[in-house]
Amino acid sequence: MTMALIETVNIGQKYAGQYILKDVNLNINRGEVFALIGPTGAGKTTLLRLLDLLEVPASGSVYFDGMDVTDNKSLRLQARRRMSFVLQKPVVFNMSVYNNVACGLRWRREKEATIRQRVSRALELADMAEYINRNARTLSGGETQRVAIARALAVAPEVLFLDEPTANLDPISTSKIEEVLAHIIGDQKTTVVMATHNMSQGQRLADRIGVIMNGEILQTGSPGDIFSTPQKKEVAEFVGVDNILSGVIVNRDNELVTIDIGGNLIQAISDYPIGEEVHALIRPEDITLAPRKDASSARNTFEGRIARIFPVGALVRVEVACGFPLLAVVTKRSAEDLSLAVNKRVYATFKATAVHIIKRWN
Ligand SMILES: Nc1ncnc2c1ncn2[C@@H]1O[C@H](COP(=O)(O)OP(=O)(O)OP(=O)(O)O)[C@@H](O)[C@H]1O
Ligand SMILES: [Mg+2]
Repeated sequence: MTMALIETVNIGQKYAGQYILKDVNLNINRGEVFALIGPTGAGKTTLLRLLDLLEVPASGSVYFDGMDVTDNKSLRLQARRRMSFVLQKPVVFNMSVYNNVACGLRWRREKEATIRQRVSRALELADMAEYINRNARTLSGGETQRVAIARALAVAPEVLFLDEPTANLDPISTSKIEEVLAHIIGDQKTTVVMATHNMSQGQRLADRIGVIMNGEILQTGSPGDIFSTPQKKEVAEFVGVDNILSGVIVNRDNELVTIDIGGNLIQAISDYPIGEEVHALIRPEDITLAPRKDASSARNTFEGRIARIFPVGALVRVEVACGFPLLAVVTKRSAEDLSLAVNKRVYATFKATAVHIIKRWN
């Protein structure tokens, strides 16, 4: 039997009499990288502060390594010695990088020789070795974050908590930090719990993701699961499923169902019965656009007109009005090849297997 390193049972938190975290049940397993993902204000920091035992929940229980640590002060203290934290807004002291990274070890009264060895190892892991003598207050945002990570690592924690490790950083500093984290994750047996509002960061780093919104965990699963089979409309929206169409199943032929989307019929694979009210989720990258109706085996082809075109990096997002709005994404190159333009007639095509069906709850 594998026992979770951290387990929460129905934990909640409230401020000023209002619940901002409700009935959170989570298992964090030894050695895994768990990412809490959700929009700003969702409750990520609040939940991290309960998991890392900085705060006591208003309701429910927290277990660490099999022990109930919900409100036992000495057990909480013992558990916290096995953890370290990188805060959302890391604080560095007005002293050298070396001393900043050493402070956790000094609190633990380690020998100076041990401190020297651990600090240089941690700075190497964070790729900050060359900054060892700099005053930490003179560092950039990304470098400050890496010092905070080195400080957290220096004490060799069993669990490392990271709150938005790349918030407010530019793309280059962000990928630098991600590289450092990926290295730590690969190198050590540390359990990592991180909060981020960046879905793709979660996908790149995490073994498992918990999607949190409005103080509730809506879904947990592997990045692949969350990305390809979101179970709720809110999760689908959050992970970038741009086409969420409401309809009703009106026909079934074995696994192949027909869904009526306001008078338009689309085909999909689903177990739900006739009469079920559903959302059909279609990723924009699964839709192809063509100037003519092609003879492909894809079951869903709709004629429409281009309503909007807007470039995003190397890609172009194209909104097609075909009785309902469909958002497709194509490369700049194929947008040029197809000479896509507003009002132009196009055929939008997607396979029945590209449609993911979820039950409508609301
Ligand atoms: N000490 C507090 N007193 C009152 N309300 C609070 C307190 N701490 C957090 N909140 C509220 O709880 C909600 C969740 O906050 P939290 O900081 O956990 O969100 P978050 O997911 O970390 O957001 P972000 O992505 O912006 O960091 C917010 O509405 C916030 O205003
Ligand atoms: Mg936060």
